[in-house]
Amino acid sequence: MLQIQENVSLKNFNTFGIEVFTRYFVEIAHEDNLVELFADPQWQQTDRLVIGGGSNLLLVNDFNGLVIRMNIRGIEHRISHQDIFVEAGGGEVWNDLVNFCVDRGYAGIENLSLIPGSVGASPIQNIGAYGVELKDTFVSCRAFEIATGTFKTFTEADCKFGYRESVFKNELKGLYIIVSVKFHLSLIPNINTQYGAIGQELAVRGITSPTIKDVSQVVSHIRVSKLPDPSTIGNAGSFFKNPLVSVDEFKVIQSKFPDVVNYPGGEGLVKLAAGWLIEQCGWKGKTVGNTGTWKNQALVLVNHGGATGTEVFSFSSQIIDSVYTKFGVMLQREVNIIS
Ligand code: EPU
Repeated sequence: MLQIQENVSLKNFNTFGIEVFTRYFVEIAHEDNLVELFADPQWQQTDRLVIGGGSNLLLVNDFNGLVIRMNIRGIEHRISHQDIFVEAGGGEVWNDLVNFCVDRGYAGIENLSLIPGSVGASPIQNIGAYGVELKDTFVSCRAFEIATGTFKTFTEADCKFGYRESVFKNELKGLYIIVSVKFHLSLIPNINTQYGAIGQELAVRGITSPTIKDVSQVVSHIRVSKLPDPSTIGNAGSFFKNPLVSVDEFKVIQSKFPDVVNYPGGEGLVKLAAGWLIEQCGWKGKTVGNTGTWKNQALVLVNHGGATGTEVFSFSSQIIDSVYTKFGVMLQREVNIIS
């Protein structure tokens, strides 16, 4: 029997460490639990929030609905010549999956080391770091359709992945719950150290032909040095997306700010480093009340202790306003705001 708890604090279920309460809470350890849950029409009609690691959430108010905590575990792997197919339960911790693969020499997700969160959440925003995105190794995911109580497999094309985007954040938002994800990895590594800091850190360590383990260790080292550890300082990683602007807009910005950090953003577009824009507005390392930006990475908003969701949200609005005033660029929040 499923246990539905009432009036549960979510403080330990969001990496921002914000205390709000949910009216109902249920933990899902097996996909059959979802069938059982939604067989009761009450839950079809109740507001729902599905959480994994809670690492991309800002909880602004108490939640007057049902929080569904996904905890389906298990990693299966199949080897076919140099090809590896790995399928992991949505409740697995993302970095545990990365370690499982790196330890066995299964290459493809080593650049995604130490990204917080769960496997089931990884396709929703097509997680990415250090020149690699989830979609590069993604084969498919299995998801529960709430309205019909059935399971469906989504291929890469079905997921419509973009930069921190997928169909699950857009047209199918709230309609499916991801229960497992399948990846295509390889025994033959395609080492990707293009991303500046990786190459520099390998050089510091005197490594000229890195293994995937080296890459994983270096990426973990860079992340630890730049990003606050949520177990001590509440945060949800990058709070905003890196904004895309047209080449024309970019030229105007660059004429006024020649140092503007930028990357190719796809056809006719330029991607700007939001962290740089925020730092230029004087916000880096600033504390306002119980919130602020991280001293080593202005794109990360932090809870210095006791921050409310409203406080963090208003602070993020102040940042958006000042970046817009200075650069004419409207930042978009990357974390999921639950209000
Ligand atoms: N920068 C600054 N000041 C800052 C922060 C950054 O000037 O305070 C400049 C840096 O000089 C650097 C550039 O901005 O040249 C990019 O910074 P960084 O390498 O730290 O990466 P990012 O673009 O800020 C993105 C992802 C991160 C991911 C890193 C590494 C987004 C929204 N964020 O950050 O992902 O770890 O690249 O690949 O795309 C996340 O999504 O939660 C996340 C942490």
